[in-house]
Amino acid sequence: MTGGHFITLEGGEGAGKTTLLSTLKARLEALGHEVVLTREPGGTPGAEAIRALLVTGAADRWMALSELCLFFAAREDHLERLIRPALARGAIVLCDRFSDSTRAYQGQAGGAGRAAVEALDGLIVGHTQPDLTLILDIDPAIGLKRAAARRGTEDRFEGKAFAFHTALRAAYLEIAETFKHRCGVVDASVAPEELADSAWALLVARLKLS
Ligand code: TMP
Repeated sequence: MTGGHFITLEGGEGAGKTTLLSTLKARLEALGHEVVLTREPGGTPGAEAIRALLVTGAADRWMALSELCLFFAAREDHLERLIRPALARGAIVLCDRFSDSTRAYQGQAGGAGRAAVEALDGLIVGHTQPDLTLILDIDPAIGLKRAAARRGTEDRFEGKAFAFHTALRAAYLEIAETFKHRCGVVDASVAPEELADSAWALLVARLKLS
């Protein structure tokens, strides 16, 4: 269906995705690729409006399945209006979080359950699965400290109990094992330049970029 590549970045709070994404974008553009940098929840006006409902307010603001449906409602808009058209014209889409966040946050660490996540993923994402998922692995004690330093109003998930964040890390490592063919785990406790180099090496090797 596409000439492009779909790359997603995943990890717990404060793993350093944002800094890494801008470095990867610059390196891909230097090779002459069109890069679309986007994020979830969000990436289109409709999905950004849904994001505001999801990432602010009390941790118990939504029932588990309501929250899950909101993430997939945002994802559907994002896929249809931004991601699929970009892939169809041959761009590289770099997405800050995607369905593996839902698997980890809602399906495993949260209360929505894995079956509901997979059912909606099949319906909404279908064949538009990432070609490569970089999972930034970090001890949640370090990640949450980093996240607190830049904390704004989007702190609904950061505010969950420490056990939730420990469960998230385990969930991501399990996802990496389940979807080995597209996932690579990188150690995010290192300095940003070192993280960028290991992520870049993985990306070039897996996608056979030149
Ligand atoms: P961000 O802080 O990395 O931009 O992500 C926003 C928050 O939304 C973050 O706490 C993780 C959470 N999230 C989920 O719980 N499920 C999802 O499917 C996505 C995409 C994000």
